[in-house]
Amino acid sequence: MAKAKPYYAPGSLSAVFYDRITTADARLLGDEDIYANLVPAGENILELGAGTGRLTVGLAQRAFHVCGVDISPTMLSQAEARVAKQPPELRARVELRQGDMTSLDLKRTFDLVICPFFTLAHVPTGAAWRNTFAVAARHLAAGGLAAFHLPKLDLMRGLDPPDPRRPVMDQPLGDGRALLLFVLERSFKDGINRLEQVIEYVLSDETGRIAHRSAERLTYYMTDPVPLAATAGLVPDRPPIDLGGVGDIFVFRKTSGAQDPAP
Ligand SMILES: C[S@@+](CC[C@H](N)C(=O)[O-])C[C@H]1O[C@@H](n2cnc3c(N)ncnc32)[C@H](O)[C@@H]1O
Repeated sequence: MAKAKPYYAPGSLSAVFYDRITTADARLLGDEDIYANLVPAGENILELGAGTGRLTVGLAQRAFHVCGVDISPTMLSQAEARVAKQPPELRARVELRQGDMTSLDLKRTFDLVICPFFTLAHVPTGAAWRNTFAVAARHLAAGGLAAFHLPKLDLMRGLDPPDPRRPVMDQPLGDGRALLLFVLERSFKDGINRLEQVIEYVLSDETGRIAHRSAERLTYYMTDPVPLAATAGLVPDRPPIDLGGVGDIFVFRKTSGAQDPAP
């Protein structure tokens, strides 16, 4: 596979252009409504993988108190900038922290834990998933809900080989520049259900010349989350909710007998 930076790494264009690309992605439409309808407005939400604060701020605008945690300083700094633009009463409802969702321990509980937009799929299935479910359970009282948005495995497995010369996105940036995305490489590994893609971000200037290009590796892992969530005392609360035909939101409830599993 080609040399490429990890997604959301410092200096990556996946981080810089995250909001622009995500806003253009109709397959995510409605995720905020789904999370907002899981608990009454005003309650406390822990967001694992808060990114640039798209949902953190959106949910705070709906009167929730949101603690957003992310491992990437580059993504978190954008979330901080987004929060800084909000009115003081909203800023008071948001807390941002750098942290790893596979080991986090804030020593307090929330009414809802969310892990949106394929965030759990960024870490390998097995121990990292079990630990993340344990983290979710640790931050909930018995009866609390945890929602995980995961990609559909059949779609991951069935993706066509990429055409590295044909852009999968070509977006004018409104200032004369344009952003193009190419999938340079794509492979799916059966057994561990790992989809690896190298996506090239190409930024052209006002004259159409290439000003910057960056190859970045996006890796997703997927498996049935139900048995792994059960190890943390999280049981399905309802059937998975389809989002945009490309993923499902799995909603779990913490059972009353659940113990905090050893880290
Ligand atoms: C696709 S973005 C989702 C951002 C935001 N929740 C949204 O829905 O727009 C995934 C985020 O998960 C973060 N992430 C990946 N692994 C993580 C980990 N182990 N702990 C915390 N955050 C992680 C990435 O840095 C990235 O910001």
